[in-house]
Amino acid sequence: MGKYGSGDTKWFVHDRFGMFIHWGLYSMLARHEWVRNTEQISNEEYQVYFDLFNPDLFCPQEWARAAREAGMKYFVITTKHHEGFCLWDTKYTDYKVTNTPIGRDLLREVVDAFRAEGLRVGFYYSLLDWHHPDFTLDCLHPMRTRVKAEEFNRGRDMRRYAQYMRDQVTELLTQYGKIDVMWFDFSYPERGKGHEQWESEELIRLVRRLQPDIVVDNRLDLPGSGDIQTPEQFTPDAGLVDEEGKPVVWEGCQTFSGSWGYFRDEASWKSVKMCIEMLINHVSRGGNLLMNVGPTSRGYIDDRAMARLAGFGAWMKYNSRSIYGCGPAPADMVAPPDCRYTYNAETKRLYLHCFAWPFRHVHLQGLCGRIRYAQLLADGSEIKIRDEVLPENSNLNSRTPGGALTLELPVVLPGQGTEVPVIELFLK
Ligand code: GLC
Repeated sequence: MGKYGSGDTKWFVHDRFGMFIHWGLYSMLARHEWVRNTEQISNEEYQVYFDLFNPDLFCPQEWARAAREAGMKYFVITTKHHEGFCLWDTKYTDYKVTNTPIGRDLLREVVDAFRAEGLRVGFYYSLLDWHHPDFTLDCLHPMRTRVKAEEFNRGRDMRRYAQYMRDQVTELLTQYGKIDVMWFDFSYPERGKGHEQWESEELIRLVRRLQPDIVVDNRLDLPGSGDIQTPEQFTPDAGLVDEEGKPVVWEGCQTFSGSWGYFRDEASWKSVKMCIEMLINHVSRGGNLLMNVGPTSRGYIDDRAMARLAGFGAWMKYNSRSIYGCGPAPADMVAPPDCRYTYNAETKRLYLHCFAWPFRHVHLQGLCGRIRYAQLLADGSEIKIRDEVLPENSNLNSRTPGGALTLELPVVLPGQGTEVPVIELFLK
């Protein structure tokens, strides 16, 4: 139990795979959710997007179905991003979705739709707020070169802003039923905004009081306040550990194409295979994957993202057993080249994922005599095991190195569930 309490991460490490959703006014500009920062856009210049926000093709049931079919078990949506726009009917500002042409609490509709598909609910809430009248100038602010700090900050009060955050978080955590994840973003104490400005202690205590089981991320600049670590846009090379070297709960958040918000002209989309490998890499190192989509301003998830979600789904349909309830393999089991293990400690099954399909044989070091049965997970077809070491001069078959076990593989794989083939190994 951390200094500020802790949430229930049991379901979290079991479920492994969630959907991140970045959706706000920035989807209209369609050139990154940081566009207000990069192009130094003022509140006045940004007003036109608020005045015209009208996602007429919004159908959260479609988002939720796509997430469930991809194999995702929870989702985290931006209730407010750095631009300050609120996706729900908050009492504490007029800068909210119900005052745009769409005129509805879209957050509620999203929550209802995802719950109906059986997914758990997470809220992202930005600590930064470039629209709020009490939020002071700093080097990340859109107005940083356009105004004089002293003038801009006159009358602004970060303490009032911290109260505003607590009021909003109270709404979010009391008016939408059970919330499973709270995702605060982010702190930059070295550049003037950290736990003091956010009043993080009070904020985390509030969150824990309102939703005792909730899983909270680690971006409040308050050691001991978070349940999970959150590496972003890279895959750690190994499991993450605390100061004492003990494994911690972590969740990598990733994009399909680089931007979190919808970005029309971005060309760096990852392939389906890369995405599946990313999921496997996360789980094999003890992490979750929170995979992002940025819906368009009309309210739908575009073809490029849908194709990748479908790619996840096509693979997960056959292979989810190697993901749910799984984590890293025991330390003495070292995966062969181009392969990753995941392990389900409850069922004692080891999963071999082959990023490159070996020709006819793969040798598994240290597993001699330890496997009862092996099968290709995609179609449940037996994979023959060879345990004994063949004589030195044998040229009839690939030699099994001492202590290893050899799997005899088909040259050609069946067509479904084999974008990344998985072999399920039943330990004795
Ligand atoms: C960064 C960015 C933000 C994004 C987040 C997701 O902190 O500021 O735009 O929402 O990462 O992890």
